[in-house]
Amino acid sequence: MQIKHFLQFNDFSREEFEYLFERTRWIKQEFKQYRRYWPLQDRTLAMIFDKHSTRTRLSFEAGMHQLGGAAIYLSTRDTQLGRGEPVEDAARVISRMVDIVMIRTNGHDIIRRFAANSRVPVINGLTDEYHPCQIMGDIYTFIEQRGSIAGKTIAWIGDSNNVCNTWLQAAEVFGFNVHVSTPPGYEVEPERAGLYGTDHYEEFSNPHDAVKDADLVTTDVWTSMGFEAETEERKKDFADFRVDAEMMACTRKDTLFMHCLPAHRGEEVAAEVIEGPQSIVWEEAENRLHTQKALIEYLLLGRLKEV
Ligand code: CP
Ligand code: NVA
Repeated sequence: MQIKHFLQFNDFSREEFEYLFERTRWIKQEFKQYRRYWPLQDRTLAMIFDKHSTRTRLSFEAGMHQLGGAAIYLSTRDTQLGRGEPVEDAARVISRMVDIVMIRTNGHDIIRRFAANSRVPVINGLTDEYHPCQIMGDIYTFIEQRGSIAGKTIAWIGDSNNVCNTWLQAAEVFGFNVHVSTPPGYEVEPERAGLYGTDHYEEFSNPHDAVKDADLVTTDVWTSMGFEAETEERKKDFADFRVDAEMMACTRKDTLFMHCLPAHRGEEVAAEVIEGPQSIVWEEAENRLHTQKALIEYLLLGRLKEV
């Protein structure tokens, strides 16, 4: 039987996400009521980090504990992966010892190679190209606030990075539109974004035009992890792409604001926006926990009959 992995957003169908969101609602409600749900006793998650993390590590580690299982944190810094052990060898060994693996790494090819050699499901916890767990949580959060996302418009302001690419894939899966506004030279690369020739996104040179009809405005750091050498140049190039009060004034009152975090106030987002009434960034961060618990449950136990 082929193992199911979650390496990029379109590995799952809309119908599978709808199932996951139904499970998420139930899992979240049980958690809020302090009710024990331990379907994964004796199951272990290995988490491999090549890059920094607060939310991803915590939500996977806490989530696995809350489901009755255990999580092990492995950093490239102190495993043999950091000393040149081939990713294929690491995958074969690690996947004989645990039930599921989450990886945050650099190039997407690394996670693909790991998955190709793994006996157990592999989850992408962020690569240079994609961040599918983030967008799964973001879409759940949007639906929680607004009922549905199909046909809605999301404005992405800033860098066409891993998070942006994943929004674009998600737009194809869920049938919504993305208005992308990046500085010249930082435009979407459709192949890198893994798109099939989509008509679900439109590029705007002026970010104010991009946000005008949006139901959600979202942004991310100007310099992603691994690209630090470009920081100073990017600060100049992105200076007109800060989501601030003036930009949010072009939106409707009920337009929401999200940011995957960590945020740099005064760079990609002004403090008044992230702390303002349209911002739902804390709900967004919390839902990483609940959606990923549903994801782990699905990858390990399959579809539960009672849903
Ligand atoms: N949004 C997100 O993935 O945060 P971390 O880098 O803290 O995991
Ligand atoms: N685009 C950012 C997201 C961090 C969660 C990065 O890759 O650093």
